[in-house]
Amino acid sequence: MSPRIKDSTVEAVLAAADIVDVVSGYTSLRKRGVTYTGLCPFHQEKTPSFAVSADKGLYYCFGCGEGGDVLTFVQRMESLSFVEAVEQLAERFAVPLEYEEGGAPDQAVRSTERRLATLLEKTAAFYARYLWESKEGAGARAYLQGRGLGREVCEAFQVGLAPNAWRGLCDRALKEGYTERDLEAAGLLVRRPGKAYDRFRGRLMFPLADHRGRVVGFGGRTLGEETPKYLNSPEGLLYQKSRLLYGLFQARRAITEADEVLVVEGYTDVLALVQAGIGNVVASMGTALTDGQLALLTRLTSNVTFMYDADRAGIEAVLRSGDLARRRGLRPTVVVLPQGQDPADTARAGGADEVRRLVGRKVSLLRFELLRLLEQGDTTSAEGRVRLFEAVREVLARSTSPQEREEQLRLLSDRLRLSPENIALLLQEAGRAGKRTEREGSPARAEEGGVRLLRDHRERLRSPELVVEREFLVAALANPETSAEVLRGLTPEHFVDPVHREAFSGLCRAFTAPDPRVVLKELVSRGSPAGRFFIRLVMEADSGAYSEAMLHERHLRLQEQHLQRNIAALRRALEEGDADADSERRLVRLEVLLHQVRSMLADVEEG
Ligand code: UTP
Ligand code: MN
Repeated sequence: MSPRIKDSTVEAVLAAADIVDVVSGYTSLRKRGVTYTGLCPFHQEKTPSFAVSADKGLYYCFGCGEGGDVLTFVQRMESLSFVEAVEQLAERFAVPLEYEEGGAPDQAVRSTERRLATLLEKTAAFYARYLWESKEGAGARAYLQGRGLGREVCEAFQVGLAPNAWRGLCDRALKEGYTERDLEAAGLLVRRPGKAYDRFRGRLMFPLADHRGRVVGFGGRTLGEETPKYLNSPEGLLYQKSRLLYGLFQARRAITEADEVLVVEGYTDVLALVQAGIGNVVASMGTALTDGQLALLTRLTSNVTFMYDADRAGIEAVLRSGDLARRRGLRPTVVVLPQGQDPADTARAGGADEVRRLVGRKVSLLRFELLRLLEQGDTTSAEGRVRLFEAVREVLARSTSPQEREEQLRLLSDRLRLSPENIALLLQEAGRAGKRTEREGSPARAEEGGVRLLRDHRERLRSPELVVEREFLVAALANPETSAEVLRGLTPEHFVDPVHREAFSGLCRAFTAPDPRVVLKELVSRGSPAGRFFIRLVMEADSGAYSEAMLHERHLRLQEQHLQRNIAALRRALEEGDADADSERRLVRLEVLLHQVRSMLADVEEG
């Protein structure tokens, strides 16, 4: 498994990595007082709500709730594991890497990784040779020819053939000094009780390279009717399907030059398009595009054009992947192919010109969604149109661009027979809904439970009671000298909100520890909603708006709220007759206290 990095190295990386520098690679930042602000790279927004604190080494988005340190940032942006993020930053900021011993010694992992990488490279080369040079390859060569795929493009992608034998590859590899374990780890060997044999036999082989061009696995197509049609390498040390795009290494240059990427479903689609002279193409390898795959593209271009199979699964995948792309701030468009075709079919049947013509007629994702609704919906009855109107409104709301919405008005007024008034309503409502989702943050992230919690939390935060709680916490953080004392007098019950409660006990721990910074650091480094909330507190405390006077005022308000709640609960108990003998007296005492707190508050407000 993955090696563990020494804590001292992690510390050194955190100390050396300049968060402003790193974040600036993704969004442009401006200095505002002690913090830097900019547009959030995690969600689509028009006004900056993303803040970076250089001296604290933290970032937080007040829009979507993303937050953390430079490591979390790199992890999220590049979809890396913790270890990978540390490694990447260590390299960039020239920090020597040290790994923990035992468990998974780094050297062993490293050398295994290198061994497997070489094994996979050699295997790809072997399969390719076997395709073009062996006698057995004749059938596969004829198959490729029959599908119109020439040798040149096949060689560019190192297409090959696995011998149709139980141990065609294994025995060769063993002779070269590899072990069955190596082969198994590389996903090339299947082990069953008492026997071990080649995973890929008699299949057309498509090597899967990562974005640096290193072979990490294979997809193998049957030459007959066998199932599965494609057998893929098992996911493992090197190959993770959701982080790989087929053809990305070869397409990189073409993508940046065209400032556009065509995303198709299959290996053969990539080959057919490249052969047709369209180089900026990658395959998602199956249907929907994952967020990890999108992350690989965002750095190259924001124009993502889907060219999926014109069948039901393809259309659904476009809708899903397109939405994911949009939420990442990309501009998705869709090429509509003739019913039932995939790009390879189209290229084969109509040639490069036909493919270009169809690409030239691509539509925005929004238009694609609307066309689809209109196609399925009933536009003949008034009732049907009302229902469609609702659905259309929802789809429009998902677009963040008013201009893009305007462009679809003609289509909608024609098909739905809408009056100008209704069109105006449609736009206005959509605009409002659009803003709402923006404020709540990216729904893609909101799917993650933790963030949903945080979003609910943000919703609730608008209640005045919770505003007081939060502002108290910020003020406590901003005034460490006085707050230790103040915090001692409070209990978790002074806070209604569970996240606030957690933050409160965190603060208590911090301010009673020998070095509060150690505890604070631990609190913000948690990936939980409470951790992220804490980051927000820390950033707000930096704003300079939270004076000691404010701390005292919020403290009094907190007590006031707490007393009010207890008094209300006691009253209810008394009314319902389940109060004990002491209740009356307690009630009187609480009311006296409340009175005192209120008069202190009045003093504060005057002075
Ligand atoms: P398709 O079934 O559309 O295959 O699956 P294709 O690429 O058009 O292949 P041909 O043209 O029939 O030869 C699209 C992609 O989904 C993945 C593969 O990456 C394939 O290229 N897939 C499909 C699998 O991984 N396993 C399968 O069994 C089927
Ligand atoms: Mn296909």
